Amino acid sequence: MAEAADNSNCAIENARNILQKGMYHKLFSPGLEISPGLNEVYELALAYYESKILIKKELIKNSAYFVKVDGEFTNHYFICTGDPVKIPDYSSSRLKSFFINNQFRTGYATHGLFPYRGKFHPQMIKAIINIMGIKQGDTILDPMMGSGTVPVEAALMGINAIGIDASPFCKFMAQAKCDALKIDPASLDIFTSRHENLFSDFNTCFEKISQQKKLFLKNTPLLNPAENEKIFNLIFLAFLDSGGYARRSQKKSHAEYFTSILERYTAAVNKISHVLKQLNIFPAQTDLYQGDARNLDIETSSLDGIIFSPPYSFAIDYLKNDVSQLKYFDTEISHLGEQMIGLRGKNLKEKYAMYLEDMEKVLSECSRVLKKNRMCTIIIGTNDSQLSKALNIRKEAVMGLHKIVMDIGKSKGLLPVRSLPRQIIGMANTMRQEYIVILQKQND
Ligand SMILES: C[S@@+](CC[C@H](N)C(=O)[O-])C[C@H]1O[C@@H](n2cnc3c(N)ncnc32)[C@H](O)[C@@H]1O
Repeated sequence: MAEAADNSNCAIENARNILQKGMYHKLFSPGLEISPGLNEVYELALAYYESKILIKKELIKNSAYFVKVDGEFTNHYFICTGDPVKIPDYSSSRLKSFFINNQFRTGYATHGLFPYRGKFHPQMIKAIINIMGIKQGDTILDPMMGSGTVPVEAALMGINAIGIDASPFCKFMAQAKCDALKIDPASLDIFTSRHENLFSDFNTCFEKISQQKKLFLKNTPLLNPAENEKIFNLIFLAFLDSGGYARRSQKKSHAEYFTSILERYTAAVNKISHVLKQLNIFPAQTDLYQGDARNLDIETSSLDGIIFSPPYSFAIDYLKNDVSQLKYFDTEISHLGEQMIGLRGKNLKEKYAMYLEDMEKVLSECSRVLKKNRMCTIIIGTNDSQLSKALNIRKEAVMGLHKIVMDIGKSKGLLPVRSLPRQIIGMANTMRQEYIVILQKQND
């Protein structure tokens, strides 16, 4: 009897000891403090790889998932803390808590400008850059950069970036976000103080962006032309962003949204400029283009890494999605439709076949421009329900696009290294899971 009681006490004591320690001490050495809110399996995996691949100095400077290393705060901590992202007072409590809960994941630096659909979590991209062994002074490519998460994050890490997108609006948005890392807040203040005039200039007549820019530069106080252009890009992005809010919510006018969104953009520029100065960080070079990922104008074997997320077959129509912004650009929409992966084809079945054809070309180009031994990461999910209907097969029989991409990669000399599943969270998403697929270019 006494022995049984002893055994039971012993088991409880053992359980208490195990529970008190948690499990992170098994994953991370004692000096590493992970960032608050890190709670998904893929995030823990990326944090683990960072802790194993980076040396202490690199963890402090560039790690994505740690806020303290041996008592010293990391740069990621400083970039993400301070005033939370300034969002308008009338925003829903859901939106407000999203930004607060995701303080270390998204919305920091200039990532929070313009809510682009299908945008990466910048914190995840930062960790992927680290675990792919990309270092300061290297060059990385995102051939389908969308809103520019990869170039913005790379620039903050001292890594040069080339960004390409078929959409002129994406090129503009990504450029505005990269440029905003380098804007002098004092010059921005000169412009934002006359935001009412700016709004009426932008709004009075419908003009293409090239004419809008001409008018802006003509009416502009004298700064140097490069600084003026950066500021125009930022303010015009706020104009497009506020137009989207006004159309979606209809609670306030475009002009009212413009005022508050410009205020938020200005706060973001002020904050990141201040932090970069404090940390002595000079954002690296970003070369962004409108172009076609199937046919890259980039030298063979010249890049140190590639990260991108292609459309998930025909799940999102990026032309329809961006139509109200695209009308400000000179490109023919029908011509763009021919370039956009996932949009070519008369019906869904044909669209899917052409999508696979196009992905072959994209991966072949990625393999060509990458240096030997270097890595290419693709983030991709599958629109199972849509595909099962289009292909007339059971949902379970739909082959995941991540597997297809791995097979195509192999045939182009890009061999699989690791594939990490990641849950897609959010009520509006029809997909539940995507994959971070890491490939490596064969040595020979
Ligand atoms: C999933 S989104 C990328 C989002 C991006 N990762 C971000 O963080 O914002 C896919 C992008 O591929 C672009 N795209 C589609 N076809 C393309 C092509 N042939 N060449 C270059 N970009 C293309 C679309 O315009 C869209 O911006």
